Amino acid sequence: MLVITVHSYRGGTGKTLLASNLAASYARKEKVCLLDYDLRAPSLHSLFDIEMPDWWINDYLNGDCDIEEVITEALPNLYVGLANPDAEAIREMMGKGRSWETQALSKTIQIRDALEQDGFGKIIFDTAPGLAYSSINAVVGSDIVALVMRMDALDILGTKEMVKGVYELLEKPTHFVVNMVLPEQMETHSAILDSTFGSKTAAFLPCLCEVRALLARGNNILIDEGLGYSDALVGLAADLEAAYQNL
Ligand SMILES: Nc1ncnc2c1ncn2[C@@H]1O[C@H](COP(=O)(O)OP(=O)(O)OP(=O)(O)O)[C@@H](O)[C@H]1O
Ligand SMILES: [Mg+2]
Repeated sequence: MLVITVHSYRGGTGKTLLASNLAASYARKEKVCLLDYDLRAPSLHSLFDIEMPDWWINDYLNGDCDIEEVITEALPNLYVGLANPDAEAIREMMGKGRSWETQALSKTIQIRDALEQDGFGKIIFDTAPGLAYSSINAVVGSDIVALVMRMDALDILGTKEMVKGVYELLEKPTHFVVNMVLPEQMETHSAILDSTFGSKTAAFLPCLCEVRALLARGNNILIDEGLGYSDALVGLAADLEAAYQNL
């Protein structure tokens, strides 16, 4: 069992698209569970064509149901657990206090055992950007983090501070992913990232108009599309497994 959290310092770096496609890539050979831990701005419900469930991740974290009651098979082998997108539910989640978040952390850690018993091989958490409690809970409960940034100064510096302030304290293995890379950045990116993060591993996903065109047509799973993005993503999926095995 490998638990991966997809996180970023700033919003809009491509976490949700990446988490969904990573999940689809692993689902070719094993049962995968993708969980929407962006309780402030849920989005997986709009990426997958599934009916609104009876139970949400919110209910699981509140202790009202089991995780198995939350998840639905969206594609073969790919199970998705949704966060409740209703405004009222979002307001409720944002008002939670520390003791609830502590309970949510222990519920998050318990997901691994429950789903391992059900034959799952991977769990992927899609998170809210920055230091939201739910995101930190997912980071704590995971084996490895894919930390996504764009190739711009604010993203890179913010990510660096977050690594120093949070990830190093938690001693969490981190895999840097630079998304939406433009062809003209390809030559300079490695040097900038090396000087910022040292020799830590990094993956690069190209910025592609084709990605946007496919998404506009409602096609969110891109791993078989033969795009640079698809190939880079399948490579990242393998790299994360290898990085975990080498820990
Ligand atoms: N490599 C890429 N090339 C082009 N567009 C991309 C790429 N990756 C993601 N996108 C698009 O960028 C937008 C933001 O992506 P996404 O919603 O996955 O980001 P996010 O990090 O989950 O955002 P948030 O922090 O708001 O949850 C989406 O429209 C997505 O389809
Ligand atoms: Mg998102």
